[in-house]
Amino acid sequence: MSNKELSMRDIICETHIGLERQGPGSAETILKALSFIDNISGGLNIADLGCGTGGPMLFLAQHTKGSITGLDMFPEFIDTLNLNAEKLGLQNRVAGVIGSMEELPFEKEAFDLIWSEGAVDSIGFEKGISHWHGFLKKNGHLAVTCPSWIADEHPREVEQFWIDAGSRLDTIQNYISIMQKTGYSPIAVFVLPETDWTDNYFIPRKAAEKALLEKYAGNEIVAEYIKGDEYEAALYAKYKQFYGYVFYIGKKM
Ligand SMILES: C[S@@+](CC[C@H](N)C(=O)[O-])C[C@H]1O[C@@H](n2cnc3c(N)ncnc32)[C@H](O)[C@@H]1O
Repeated sequence: MSNKELSMRDIICETHIGLERQGPGSAETILKALSFIDNISGGLNIADLGCGTGGPMLFLAQHTKGSITGLDMFPEFIDTLNLNAEKLGLQNRVAGVIGSMEELPFEKEAFDLIWSEGAVDSIGFEKGISHWHGFLKKNGHLAVTCPSWIADEHPREVEQFWIDAGSRLDTIQNYISIMQKTGYSPIAVFVLPETDWTDNYFIPRKAAEKALLEKYAGNEIVAEYIKGDEYEAALYAKYKQFYGYVFYIGKKM
């Protein structure tokens, strides 16, 4: 591909495709979230929405029984997920499909657990979890991470960053109220640790972007994109006491 043809979508894809995760999180955080979910050693039917290349999902598969279907809108991510599932010998109970989180291509009441890390805010927390509600069995669980305000003060610079990124931050209390309003009983809510952002996402992403800068030396779109990501990391370092990713775990009422 020539530099001229490179789109923002291509850059996002190329930056993230080789990373284990495409957003903040960790194995420890997944295990903590799983500890609030009933019957994980039973044969659960799980969906991971906005699964990316499936790092979290494959870990989830190794710590649960039953089957997991990952869904993402990037075909390249789904291809990577399916290849990695095969490498791990998990292809019989793990599959990735291309699709939209806003219009799930699944049967109603199909899942015991809907999992989603770092994705729901891109379609809106309320819109996402109310649509997904219909795809959970009664008493099924929802486990999603969503960027949230974690302090009373809401710095304007942070607010603007998330709006520009096509998302927005709300308070934990408001997200809990939305869960209740859309038919979930909240079970657990916890803030992801700082290292889930830094060690597990910003640092590997920075390494991938260093390689990208070398590959596309002189390409202004690439340079601009990377500057945006550097700003995101600097903003987090400066304001991390005010916002973070929060895991919201609930049960379908
Ligand atoms: C921040 S990444 C998180 C990926 C993965 N869950 C992880 O934690 O590593 C968000 C993912 O959601 C996907 N996504 C965003 N909006 C989507 C939509 N409307 N339908 C399907 N996938 C979507 C993106 O392609 C991306 O892979």
